[in-house]
Amino acid sequence: MTATPSTRRAKLSTINSASAQQRYSTVAILLHWAIALALAFQLALGFAMPKDERGFALYQLHKSVGITILLLTLARLAWRLTHRPPPAVERGFNGFLAKAVHVLLYVFMIGAPLTGWVIVSTSRIQVPTMFWGVIPWPHLPVSKALHDLAEESHELLAWTGIALFLLHVVGALRHQFLIKDGLLKRMGPGGSAGLAGLLALLVLVTYFGTGMKISSDVVAAGGYGPTATPAAPAPTATPTVAATPAVEETAAVEEEDAEAGPPPTWAIQRGGRLGFTVTSGSDSYKGSFSDWSGSIKFDPENPESADIRMSINLASATVGDATMDGMMQGEDFLSSSANPTATWRSTSVTQTGPNRYRANGTLSLKGASKPQALTFTLSGDGLRRHVEGSASIDRNAFGVGTGDSAAGLGGSVALNFAFDAVGREP
Ligand code: HEM
Ligand code: HEM
Repeated sequence: MTATPSTRRAKLSTINSASAQQRYSTVAILLHWAIALALAFQLALGFAMPKDERGFALYQLHKSVGITILLLTLARLAWRLTHRPPPAVERGFNGFLAKAVHVLLYVFMIGAPLTGWVIVSTSRIQVPTMFWGVIPWPHLPVSKALHDLAEESHELLAWTGIALFLLHVVGALRHQFLIKDGLLKRMGPGGSAGLAGLLALLVLVTYFGTGMKISSDVVAAGGYGPTATPAAPAPTATPTVAATPAVEETAAVEEEDAEAGPPPTWAIQRGGRLGFTVTSGSDSYKGSFSDWSGSIKFDPENPESADIRMSINLASATVGDATMDGMMQGEDFLSSSANPTATWRSTSVTQTGPNRYRANGTLSLKGASKPQALTFTLSGDGLRRHVEGSASIDRNAFGVGTGDSAAGLGGSVALNFAFDAVGREP
């Protein structure tokens, strides 16, 4: 079926070619393309954010880019409301469709970041948002019950945005190649249709390029799949304070609402303290271990699934006196040359109060393995916590302090510890 010249003219009569020559203001054009490029990047990032360690860092980026899009869109709307756009080019159904797509694109540009913001504000684990790593961004005061709805809306809006974008581009192509009214010029920097076309191409390249780049990086880093977190390592003979992954990377965790699944893994940060005190009459000796490490799998809300392992290099014990430190390493006390490492492993962890826990476990020290409980409290929130705890060790049960030199010492050694831990979802 071919359109005769007269029907074609009738169809095109709804187009006002003179209006097609008028441009949007430079600010409107700038914002249109800045937001279009950011959105292309953001959508590709959203879909490619994999569920592995490197993906967690991408979440922080996703949040910052998303909030930037929200702010740019608000600026754009404010500009739009205070500066008249050029008159519509087309009337009738197609004119209405173009207008409707524009309005819905604005709904998408605001709705997508808002629902994303609700997701992170209602997440079970409240991870702080640092806008571009600098400005603390608040959580929205909304009910946690909105979490699932926000997650579904966020994804639906993303797909709706892509559909609207396709309609928008089909409309632009129609004007450019079928109607040939030069409408692209209205959105072209300096009124150039060529530049508008180039920017449109850049938007597509950004979308596909970002998606492919992230995917190939992730494949190189070990694939999508379950997290590459190593299982809690067996204590080693020469433990060091757990290698601390970059704080930013571990904190930039996925906001996903994990039900009572595997517990998060926590990295002990540098600067922690493991001390001990033993009484001698009315005096007490205080000391500490400088070399210890731990691996912690622990969900504060489901402590029963915890797996906590600590490892202490006994040779690193000091009370600040060389003679006494030397004595402590001898056979009467720690006998560290025969058994260099003491280890403790949790068997069950229970909550005893708000942020207060009791962990039963097994202490292996100087060749003996015995039940040993400890208690600890948590402060902070989300995946950055401060841990403080203590234990009382019956030193005689482990044969620590057997000779005359230990005669005046109290029977129990008070252990105390404090450290910061940064968590990562499983
Ligand atoms: C225009 C802005 C945004 C766009 C186009 C966008 C797009 C996307 C897309 C495509 C996904 C993947 C959806 C899926 O497959 O489930 C996603 C996920 C996510 N986005 Fe956004 N996003 C935007 C803004 C934000 C903002 C501002 C935040 C937070 C402050 C955010 C937080 C999240 C989170 C937490 C997820 C993961 C949700 C899940 O795992 O189910 N997004 N986003
Ligand atoms: C990449 C290819 C794109 C091209 C070729 C393009 C082209 C254009 C053109 C020519 C106009 C002017 C339409 C008119 O005056 O009737 C326009 C307006 C508009 N574009 Fe795009 N655009 C693109 C991408 C996007 C994207 C990704 C978005 C946002 C999601 C977007 C949102 C809008 C909106 C909301 C308007 C209406 C502006 C207003 O009246 O306030 N565009 N676009």
